[in-house]
Amino acid sequence: MPSLTEPIVAVGRMRSLPQPTLNSHDLVIRPWQLDDAAVVLEAYRDPAIQRWHLRTMADLAEAASWIDAWPDRWNQETGADWAVSTGGTVVGRVGIKRLDLWDGIGELAYWVMPAARGRNTAARAVAAVTGWSFDVLGLHRLELIHAIANHASCRVAAKAGFHPEGTMLRQGHHADGWHDMHQHARLAD
Ligand SMILES: CC(C)(COP(=O)(O)OP(=O)(O)OC[C@H]1O[C@@H](n2cnc3c(N)ncnc32)[C@H](O)[C@@H]1OP(=O)(O)O)[C@@H](O)C(=O)NCCC(=O)NCCS
Repeated sequence: MPSLTEPIVAVGRMRSLPQPTLNSHDLVIRPWQLDDAAVVLEAYRDPAIQRWHLRTMADLAEAASWIDAWPDRWNQETGADWAVSTGGTVVGRVGIKRLDLWDGIGELAYWVMPAARGRNTAARAVAAVTGWSFDVLGLHRLELIHAIANHASCRVAAKAGFHPEGTMLRQGHHADGWHDMHQHARLAD
């Protein structure tokens, strides 16, 4: 059945682009490398990252395979992920965990290593990926969804210019049960 709408971002547009390295003051937001596996493993041992990202990792091989999956996601145009580093040290992660090029909509995810928190890292990394997603890739809307109990993440959303749109009741199924989730979004224009 023919569609009555046009894609916002054409199929093939994303995979035709190299995954960029983005900069924000001291932050270098770059594609993951296999030798980042140790820091990814360490991140998923942090209780707060486990709690809000709903997973852990068993060993270095699992962390390496998490890293290794991102180029495929890029080529399939279903998602993207970046390491956030400063002074050559990886301090966090920002990514587009859900992506629909036809509708031009993505959903962001992020974490920051415990020792690097409280320096506005996540909001700056989110802002950098948001700028690229709108200006280069051509998305028209980005969403950011966090559990209402995750106050730090709500602050990241607000500081990165993502307006609150409302609360979705029992939308997040976490290890400790259902969470009400708060949705924020930013539009390209
Ligand atoms: C949420 C998270 C990404 C924020 O990253 P960040 O770079 O530390 O963000 P900020 O420096 O902007 O701090 C955000 C808020 O965290 C709180 N905060 C400040 N210092 C902090 C510290 N040392 N440790 C923890 N939280 C701190 C403050 O409320 C701050 O808000 P404010 O700027 O209005 O004071 C980070 O805490 C994290 O990785 N948490 C676990 C994983 C997670 O929640 N991911 C998001 C899932 S939706």
